[in-house]
Amino acid sequence: MNKITLIPGDGIGPEITKAMKKVVEATGINIEWEEVEAGESQIDKFGTPLPNHVIDCIKKNKIAIKGPITTPIGKGFKSVNVTLRQELNLYVNLRPIKSFKGINSKYDDIDLVIVRENTEDLYTGIEHKIGDYGAESIKLITKPACERICEFALNYAQNNSRKKVTAVHKANIMKLSDGLFLDIFKNISKQYNLEANDLIVDAAAMNLVLNPEKYEVMVMPNLYGDILSDLCAGLVGGLGIIPGANIGKEYAVFEAVHGSAPQIAGKNKANPTALIQSAIMMLRYLKKEHYALKIEKALEKVFLNGEKLTEDLGGNASTTEFVEEVCKYI
Ligand code: NAI
Repeated sequence: MNKITLIPGDGIGPEITKAMKKVVEATGINIEWEEVEAGESQIDKFGTPLPNHVIDCIKKNKIAIKGPITTPIGKGFKSVNVTLRQELNLYVNLRPIKSFKGINSKYDDIDLVIVRENTEDLYTGIEHKIGDYGAESIKLITKPACERICEFALNYAQNNSRKKVTAVHKANIMKLSDGLFLDIFKNISKQYNLEANDLIVDAAAMNLVLNPEKYEVMVMPNLYGDILSDLCAGLVGGLGIIPGANIGKEYAVFEAVHGSAPQIAGKNKANPTALIQSAIMMLRYLKKEHYALKIEKALEKVFLNGEKLTEDLGGNASTTEFVEEVCKYI
């Protein structure tokens, strides 16, 4: 029996985690979910949106899957998502972007993977005011973090039959910080029998829209990874589709790329595919390929059939109807 920490999150989080659970359980796998709450709702009870028992629960089970958690904009507490990644040293954010046949999007043959550094860059939260004049945020890029993320991306390519790894940076302007990232990528990539190249982030954004099929594995610092993964989601049908995994040496936390989508929360409209695909990644991480494949094949059939698509994909099925269809094919 696998014991997994489940964090429902807020906004559309509870609806899509319920949907994900139903789909995973339809495969017949034996999983015990240990449910814990994080986010704004916990502040009154525990004085923090990320109570210690949540971190302890993930440390105990080693694996968690979570719904999105809202972060106040421009004020309030630090992102629970970012804090979790830093606390558990989940230094890789792995985001596969793959087209599904049947989903109406501009491209139908995209199969690339974004490897986003997950612990530093502008996300360390080191910022301060300069009196009334302005504010300053520190972009922290360190050698060990660059080394481990570049090694992960290159190993991932090697182990998954990918031939090319592209490093994304802005080393023409940030010569020291992004320059360090690029130097390390160039040095480490020499040890691999892979095609290794690099792109400045603005050019990467344009090239991804013009010729996304040219890219296989892309590795980059935190901020560029955040932005380009949403861009890539848009290439294959939107944020409702794209899964993610936060991976470290000891723990892994699986979550969709999208946020809590407050506009559609509680309306039974959210597309749970991204979290269901995150669960597929989790099952593969647990070496449960048989169950992962069952869900993957069912999703392919639902999209190809095209009768039960959620609104974000141009259909009119509810979250529950979509989930019933996936379970039917499983
Ligand atoms: P968002 O990803 O929640 O929404 C962007 C757009 O995509 C909206 O139009 C939304 O309706 C749509 N969308 C997202 N997921 C969808 C789904 N599963 N099905 C159908 N439509 C979907 O991004 P936004 O609005 O910038 O952020 C909302 C909140 O989420 C913020 O507080 C943000 O900080 C938080 N957030 C949390 C993340 C996490 O928990 N890992 C990641 C990203 C954002």
